[in-house]
Amino acid sequence: MTRMSLKKILLHPDPRLKKACEPVADINADLRKLADDMLETMYDAPGVGLAAPQVGKVMRLFVMDFSGKEADPDPRVLFNPRLTWVSETMNTYEEGCLSIPDIYEDVTRPEQVRMVYQNIDGKEIEEEFEGLGATCAQHELDHLDGKLFIDYLSAIKRGMITKKMKKLKKELARDT
Ligand code: NI
Repeated sequence: MTRMSLKKILLHPDPRLKKACEPVADINADLRKLADDMLETMYDAPGVGLAAPQVGKVMRLFVMDFSGKEADPDPRVLFNPRLTWVSETMNTYEEGCLSIPDIYEDVTRPEQVRMVYQNIDGKEIEEEFEGLGATCAQHELDHLDGKLFIDYLSAIKRGMITKKMKKLKKELARDT
């Protein structure tokens, strides 16, 4: 039994959210603990995905569970994920991000993707995702390359959101 703990989620704008993350060489006990903590933090938020840079770790790791509130939990841990195939058909979802709370915008991405990754035991897995799962997987993978969903929006819209977030962060800093 490992004890889990909640991590602090970084809020945009933050330079740590803009970095390209390093591959994970050795999936050891510390990293498995980090992945468990990230899942706990994601469920607590609540969210459907959380990437390592969002908790200040510059490494290629994200967690997700897109099963929905009605279904049983279906947590996934993805180390060193990469796309091996994307569909030509596209899908538009209203996306949000735990690092950009209360902002939701339409983003268009491939409807299906195939991803290769190592799971929490270090086993290599290839999996196909579609619908919300595909959107979530691509959104989280973007985080590992320092990319946020607002980067798909117009510069004007992105600027407005960033301004709003700066104000929110100032308010939060004042309250603590
Ligand atoms: Ni996000």
